[in-house]
Amino acid sequence: MGSSVPDTTFQHVHASFCARGGRLLLKDGELYRGLSHEVTPLYERLFSEGTIDDLMQDGALVHTERTDESVEEFGLVVKHRLIPYVSYPYEWCSAALRYAALFFLDFNLRLLGKGLLCFDATPYNIVFEGTEPVYVDFESIRPWDSVNLTVWLADFQALFLRPLEMYQAGHERYVRLGMAEWRGWQRGVSPEDYVRLMDRHMARRMVSSAVSSVVSVASRLVPARLRGPARRVWGTIRSARSEPAPPRVPSRDELAKLLSDLRKKVEPLCPLPVLGWDYYRDLFAFPSLDDKTGWSAKQLAVSDAFERAAPRSVLDVGSNRGWYSQLAARRGARVIAWDRDDRLVSLLFNDAHKGKLDIQPLVMDLVWPTPAQGLGGVWQAAEERHRCDMVLCLALIHHLVHIEGMHFDRIVLGLSDLTDRWLLIEFVPYADPNLAQWPNLERRDWYTLEGLLTALEPQFSVLYTAVSDPRERTLIFAEKKHAS
Ligand SMILES: C[S@@+](CC[C@H](N)C(=O)[O-])C[C@H]1O[C@@H](n2cnc3c(N)ncnc32)[C@H](O)[C@@H]1O
Repeated sequence: MGSSVPDTTFQHVHASFCARGGRLLLKDGELYRGLSHEVTPLYERLFSEGTIDDLMQDGALVHTERTDESVEEFGLVVKHRLIPYVSYPYEWCSAALRYAALFFLDFNLRLLGKGLLCFDATPYNIVFEGTEPVYVDFESIRPWDSVNLTVWLADFQALFLRPLEMYQAGHERYVRLGMAEWRGWQRGVSPEDYVRLMDRHMARRMVSSAVSSVVSVASRLVPARLRGPARRVWGTIRSARSEPAPPRVPSRDELAKLLSDLRKKVEPLCPLPVLGWDYYRDLFAFPSLDDKTGWSAKQLAVSDAFERAAPRSVLDVGSNRGWYSQLAARRGARVIAWDRDDRLVSLLFNDAHKGKLDIQPLVMDLVWPTPAQGLGGVWQAAEERHRCDMVLCLALIHHLVHIEGMHFDRIVLGLSDLTDRWLLIEFVPYADPNLAQWPNLERRDWYTLEGLLTALEPQFSVLYTAVSDPRERTLIFAEKKHAS
């Protein structure tokens, strides 16, 4: 039986102000969506024909059920499973964006088989759970022939394809800025900026392929060898310059071919050059997570802390390749891993994905986490979205003090905002063999273990300390005084 609920029992989720066919609503901590009268008949049909069930079956579409709630301005109110730890595409590593692009194309191919399509082609309609993308913009599924394909394609290019190509070409910084701008007039990476930044890259590629051609045929100068690569490179530039407008409304089969062709373009993209990863492999030993015998004192101590506290969620800041994130996930925690190096985050993404571990690796600078955005801060700051039961801050404090110029009290306050209960932080003293080799290290007299313990005091009770690895380092396990 339908219960007639006055509108005031539902709170509007202001972040969903740009949705077209409805609105996100909150009631008693649960997430609902009001669908407009206009789209309700379509969704009634999709529910009754089993289309929604089918799309939800493998988790591709967020789990959603009909309700009997009645709110005047909506034709139908549905209830969604609430997905915790939301992140935005410019916080994703490049490997995650590539994976999301493939997921989105597959999802649309599946929809097209049912005569449907997503109304817009944007990664902002996808939320990651660990390394699994979930399509959450429930109301944007429409009959395929009602979708403006010119806009759809332009958005796919601006928000998936060009960003991935530019990651691959080393333009990470620009891509992240462009991706963060999607809400305004500019959306993602524009064709003009793509050409401006990629021309040089293309030209470099052309020069290097010309040089290698010349070298390889040094004895016999064969101009035809040069023509092939040059033609290919300029072809790419030309295609980037032209707007991706389909010449006419394509048939359903033509559209399916277009989506499959886009998939073929995305599939081989390796967003960031692999260069540099060996450096990190050598620097941080990655012993088997299954066999404790090869573990260091630090790894044993962190494992012990997980066993004592049994945190349901862990935020690993400065996660690097994520050995500790993976350990936490294997101990049953849901993990968010922050590091500012996309290569490392992508490496962890691929590891976590292969190992089916509940880790969401993100590119985030601890010193400058994403702030709240939009009028009234409707898009929450990273600190609010990613707060966990436990924060790990391992082998990072010397970076924060000596590179970022931060003081202990500021670091402690920041970490306290990120944890609901526990903090495991590692102190790296000047006697540490690695820190001792840092060039131009300016020593600060307050940078001592005692200094850090004193700074922790207003926010945390220290439960114990343990010897780390190298043994000059100390692990501090602390509990928040005013647990939230
Ligand atoms: C020495 S490693 C520590 C890795 C790991 N936590 C451990 O204990 O083995 C420091 C990591 O912190 C990252 N990092 C440095 N400054 C950072 C910052 N401001 N925000 C996020 N990550 C940072 C680096 O990219 C690097 O991967």
